[in-house]
Amino acid sequence: MQATEYQQWLRDTRDFWDVADEGTARFGRVCSSPEIDGARDPQELEQIWRRETQAAIGQILDGIPIEGDWHCLEIGCGVGRLMKALAGRCGHVAGVDLSERMLGYARRYLADTRNTSLHLNDGRSLEMIADSSVDFVFSHLAFQHITLYEVVDAYLAEIARVLRPGGYCRIQNWREGSLPVVERVKNVIRRMAGREVLRSNRCWQWQEGKSVRFGGVTFTPREWQRRLRRFGLTPLRVQVGLGHDYWMWTTCRRPADG
Ligand SMILES: C[S@@+](CC[C@H](N)C(=O)[O-])C[C@H]1O[C@@H](n2cnc3c(N)ncnc32)[C@H](O)[C@@H]1O
Repeated sequence: MQATEYQQWLRDTRDFWDVADEGTARFGRVCSSPEIDGARDPQELEQIWRRETQAAIGQILDGIPIEGDWHCLEIGCGVGRLMKALAGRCGHVAGVDLSERMLGYARRYLADTRNTSLHLNDGRSLEMIADSSVDFVFSHLAFQHITLYEVVDAYLAEIARVLRPGGYCRIQNWREGSLPVVERVKNVIRRMAGREVLRSNRCWQWQEGKSVRFGGVTFTPREWQRRLRRFGLTPLRVQVGLGHDYWMWTTCRRPADG
């Protein structure tokens, strides 16, 4: 992709995530669900937030032998709720995000932590993180929104670079093949009509005329593992349907001798 096209993609993507207030960031972007839309008061919203954050932490740490001195890194940290939950369990948590506004909300959210840092990135690189310096990279609700294969690949190369040998990575994304039958039939019709095919059941256009979609590129578990290996990451475990039936969670490691 040309640099100018990438810059346009980055502008459009930032446009989507750079929301005007913290409430919209938390309940319109980071967490969004019919339950949230139906919540009656702020207290109920906070309860849902706490419950969903706890569930996410359980999924992120599932099978990860986290230690008190570990350096962790979140890709697409949003307002920093997961960083905050992990800060008490490890040595340091860094978060990168392409949205300046999200990072602004995260700065406030993490104000009472001493072992966190936040970094604005260009949506695909981790240049502020030193080689082999991270024990654990994780990403939740971010890869599922990445609409370009080249961005996913750029991140996998960066993850392999920043992980220490033997370091762990856990990523949640959307799996291909999770479309309901009715959508698959519609895809056949879309293809015949020369229209864009739905790649996942959340892959909609967020705003008419914009190139940014809410749903990102999807992979079969096999394709995904092949991709991880291509970047020198060893897949240890792929969990399909953990959290949602269209989700895929993967644990991988940089080889200890790699
Ligand atoms: C749905 S929020 C999730 C935030 C956080 N991971 C959580 O679960 O609380 C997605 C976040 O990923 C960020 N994001 C999306 N695409 C990204 C990319 N290519 N690089 C860096 N951040 C990205 C967005 O700006 C947003 O803050």
